[in-house]
Amino acid sequence: MKFFIDTANLDQIREAMDLGILDGVTTNPSLMAKEGIRGEVNIRKHYVDICNIVDGDVSAEVIATDFEGMIREGQALAALHPQIVVKVPVIKEGIKAIKYLSSQGIKTNCTLVFSAGQALLAAKAGATYVSPFIGRLDDISTDGVELVAQIVDIYRYYDLKTQVLAASIRHTMHIIQCAEVGADVVTCPLNPILGLLKHPLTDIGLEKFLADHNKK
Ligand code: E4P
Repeated sequence: MKFFIDTANLDQIREAMDLGILDGVTTNPSLMAKEGIRGEVNIRKHYVDICNIVDGDVSAEVIATDFEGMIREGQALAALHPQIVVKVPVIKEGIKAIKYLSSQGIKTNCTLVFSAGQALLAAKAGATYVSPFIGRLDDISTDGVELVAQIVDIYRYYDLKTQVLAASIRHTMHIIQCAEVGADVVTCPLNPILGLLKHPLTDIGLEKFLADHNKK
């Protein structure tokens, strides 16, 4: 399973990269705004800065919602850096845009996916990644991990090549659950990844090993 970090914060991306386990980055317009990155020029420069830190795919989301606009923006984003993956919402125009961009050899990430039907269309259109948002489903009392499992099953059944990128991950247990159901990628903030390391018996055990080693 690949680990992507879901942030536009360069320090967090560097920290995850230093850990040696990072396979890519996802961003969205809200995450860019959170870092205070505004305006087309600054946003595009920021994507290049991220690509220069990380060794892997970097999702950059289109703002346009019409087919022509998405294509124009997607091509411009893809031209910024070979690591850019164009993130497109799963709306009618978005599916058409994914089909077109894929036919041009541009990688795509179909975002805002909340149902198996949406994921099926994304794969049919040739998306490189599909992003089911599990935390936002959990927020409305619907099992987000179950959707990931359902998409994984359907893609395996038909041997569809689109990678299932579990997004909107809120805590460490989500990562484990996504791994159990066979997600290809998880994307989340740094803290849930660091949470995987935590175990009280590790801390107690290490403390004892060091104390024994230092005994005179
Ligand atoms: C990633 O591709 C998504 O944009 C992101 O995971 C959404 O997460 P949120 O639901 O915590 O905003």
